[in-house]
Amino acid sequence: MRKRKFRLMRRRIAAGNWKMNKKKAEALELANTLAQSSLPGDVDVILGVPSLYLEGVQNAVHGSTIQVAAQNCHQEDFGAYTGEISAPMLASINVAWVIIGHSERRQYFAEDNALLAKKVDKALEHNLRPIFCCGEPLNIREKGNHVDFVKTQLQESLFHLDVKSFGRLVIAYEPIWAIGTGVTASPEQAQDMHREIRSMITNQYDSTLSEAIQILYGGSVKPANARILFDQPDVDGGLVGGASLKSGDFLDIINA
Ligand code: PGA
Repeated sequence: MRKRKFRLMRRRIAAGNWKMNKKKAEALELANTLAQSSLPGDVDVILGVPSLYLEGVQNAVHGSTIQVAAQNCHQEDFGAYTGEISAPMLASINVAWVIIGHSERRQYFAEDNALLAKKVDKALEHNLRPIFCCGEPLNIREKGNHVDFVKTQLQESLFHLDVKSFGRLVIAYEPIWAIGTGVTASPEQAQDMHREIRSMITNQYDSTLSEAIQILYGGSVKPANARILFDQPDVDGGLVGGASLKSGDFLDIINA
């Protein structure tokens, strides 16, 4: 009964992560199609779009319930960082969300836990809500060290936050071996890690906070597996890459 009450408190989120995909016209067409579709009232739909299209997509979804996220932000406000985009810049165009710590940023752009802590702080300082990604590579999973690995990610990037700031986060558990590979974590693997993450938050803070935090699963979510993943008691929705690039597939996932 208690679990059920908390479960009902947490709104579902279907977040798309377009990564570095789509030309402008295609991006706007996808955003328009989604904005004109009838969306369930109990799901928050967030589109993580390339920075170049943030304002265009914001205009396209204006009047719908769809929200827009950046895929990254810099850890400083302004300065000589050619090619970068900062949290105050995003805030100045009314972006509400930012994905931080995606495994591709960690892998290809050498973003480590300490740097991500700074990015999280900067996003929160400018009133952006971070979707903070964590998750282990395959070799760590095979050794059975995945829970400790994710715990270290949270400890080093998030556990310095106070309760109020932590409450502004959404966490996305994305096992790296499942991202873009077609291999999805089983519903049990996802549920187990989500429950572990909740208990880490309980131990660091308290159960009121851990039961309120939305934890998304990411990694090869598709229309065919979305419902069983989202049915898990500690899975509050998904961060969806490949399948968010097609309106039909993403709508099926939103409706799951
Ligand atoms: P995928 O990507 O759904 O294509 O596996 C998920 C992600 O990287 O957020």
